[in-house]
Amino acid sequence: MENRKIIELLQEMTLAEKIGQLSQTTGEHYIGKVDSEMVETGPDFPAHMLEGDTLYTMGSIIGVSSAGITNRIQRQYLERSRLKVPLLFMHDAIHGYKTIFPIPLGLSCTWDERILQQVAEDTASELRATGIHVNFSPMVDLVRDSRWGRVMESFGEDHLLSGNLGRAMIRGYQKGEHGVIADSGVAACLKHFAAYGAGIGGKDYNAVDMSWREFYAYYGKPYEIALQEKPKFVMSSFNSFSGIPVTASEEMMKEILRGTYQFDEIIISDWGAVSELQNHRIAADGKEAAELALKAGIDIEMVSTLYLQHYEEILANNPALLQEIDAAVLKILQFKNELGLFENPYADEDLEHEVLLNPRFLENAKNAAKRSCVLLKNEQMLPIKQEYKNIIIVGPFAGSNQLLGNWKCKGSFDDVVTLPEGMKRADESLNLQVYETLKDCPASRLEQCDFIVVAIGEQWELSGEGHSSVNIELESSQQQLIREVKQTNKPYACICFSGRPLALQNIIDDIPALLWCWYPGTQAGNAIAELITGRGTPTGKLTMSFPRHSSQAPIYYNEYSTGRPANESSYSSRYQDCEIGPLFPFGHGLTYTDTQYSGFRISRHDLTDGQELTISFEVSNPSKYDYDETVILYIEDLVSRAVRPIREMKKYRVISVPAYQTVSVQMTLSVDDFRYLDHQLQQTIEPGKFNIYINDLQTPIASVEYR
Ligand code: GLC
Repeated sequence: MENRKIIELLQEMTLAEKIGQLSQTTGEHYIGKVDSEMVETGPDFPAHMLEGDTLYTMGSIIGVSSAGITNRIQRQYLERSRLKVPLLFMHDAIHGYKTIFPIPLGLSCTWDERILQQVAEDTASELRATGIHVNFSPMVDLVRDSRWGRVMESFGEDHLLSGNLGRAMIRGYQKGEHGVIADSGVAACLKHFAAYGAGIGGKDYNAVDMSWREFYAYYGKPYEIALQEKPKFVMSSFNSFSGIPVTASEEMMKEILRGTYQFDEIIISDWGAVSELQNHRIAADGKEAAELALKAGIDIEMVSTLYLQHYEEILANNPALLQEIDAAVLKILQFKNELGLFENPYADEDLEHEVLLNPRFLENAKNAAKRSCVLLKNEQMLPIKQEYKNIIIVGPFAGSNQLLGNWKCKGSFDDVVTLPEGMKRADESLNLQVYETLKDCPASRLEQCDFIVVAIGEQWELSGEGHSSVNIELESSQQQLIREVKQTNKPYACICFSGRPLALQNIIDDIPALLWCWYPGTQAGNAIAELITGRGTPTGKLTMSFPRHSSQAPIYYNEYSTGRPANESSYSSRYQDCEIGPLFPFGHGLTYTDTQYSGFRISRHDLTDGQELTISFEVSNPSKYDYDETVILYIEDLVSRAVRPIREMKKYRVISVPAYQTVSVQMTLSVDDFRYLDHQLQQTIEPGKFNIYINDLQTPIASVEYR
């Protein structure tokens, strides 16, 4: 439809109809609850205003899927809508819709933007085929505390990586350049703006309090980077930020998001976040809450209906808000028009059957799962020797299909390839025995077996939204199982599934080999089997540090220097009852390749404005595996006027290293790469020495002096 007609449509709308476009509800108000096709991802709200004509002014629906259902609601809605403005359908398919890919924290361990983009493209195809127009993804919240259940949805503890991977997913979802949504694309919704991952104590929904320097240098940076890819939506977060709930913060939403970060599309609140301004105790009632959110520029109110209940009173007191409301409604109408919904508001039910779970997506899911797994430890146990044919798989996850994580959207456990199924597909000749516990295994079987795979981890319900934990150790029964397996004197390796880094200090010495698989998704068994049988090598590298004990969280690689850096003295910044540093650091990940880095060279040892320097080196792969190696470059500023982190990642790259080959690598740094945000919030660099690290956080490969 021509834009002129969209503007005419806006002019025809009543005020009630405009407010309807700024309101979002769930699907059961139209056709009743259809359990398998409607999900609710937050607390219930009284169905105020959700009857009669009001229901047919709503702008969008959340949590409904399947073309048959979205079409049924759309048809019913358009029959009753006075101006025939089609509905938008929005959902959370944060790592897949029907084909489920690894959880985002796992995907981030690929460090590969191509993979994140591919996951998003495939997910968008499935979503659009089912009539969904907006995906509440990517989440780029910076995280440092694995007690927070939602670290599973994040891209880890580095702000640059989080922003770049978020950009890649936005590209993949929208499929068009500069914010355009292609025909098989969906609108991306960047979330949760802002700093939701910094909840005090790792408790979900908790207050966030930090300096503006910490925000602009770290917690705000992933959104700033990802916004360059022009997502159509941004979601406001539940938390308060330094005293003001973000969903009511004109500073955060208007000055920073729309001003500094130049976002000019649609802002949607999180589930009920407008109403929850009353719980934050900054609004005495629903009217005040709605007024604060409207003034902050929240365009769409998710699920609570306070805009609908109080708009007349609010506008009577704030007539100037009508202009902002018209602007918001126009953006929504123009987005619906961009999608072609006025001409064709329906999904193609035949197309849906062709698209969902198609072989290409399943192959991409297997590849993504292989690249997400991180080999944390390996004392010559993996890959399993070819001659080992009698294999026991034991543990709570031995035959499990519960490998999709807690935001599995329409993923079905029945579609998941289990570990035994994957092992059989990898090698038909294997004689596999699968047991929940070692006690279930007959002594004769144990005697005959060549190798034991211990499949352990955290039940998927224990991570995700609303699942913060004080105890992130491995369950004691699983620690016991590992010790029992060790007692058998058989070779063994552990495969661990989780939505977060777990604290393994108490058991790690009894684990000779550990492959961390996160929740690998629909193709779990095929991916893991190929890795542990040596049909490929693990390549993942951690994007989040593993604490030794629960109470060592939060822990992250770029902690600030202190006046008493951690050392063996008790007069240093450390816990007296815990070894220094994480059990496994950011960037850690082993392979089967015995890769060697050599020949480090630096193009200059001094640097002035306008100059660049290049770090060159060779990466040699003496193994039979063609594989992808992630190279990570860090700097360390030895003296600065404001305290800086002890390490700062500045560059990373995924390079293909063919079997038996050596690859030359060059990485270039400019003066800007050495700058930091000082205590006056200025991007600054002071004269002095910097160390440069490649992959290894302890030993610099070169140093340079800025003059
Ligand atoms: C939830 C989550 C958010 C999600 C939204 C809609 O509460 O916080 O990530 O997109 O509601 O399901």
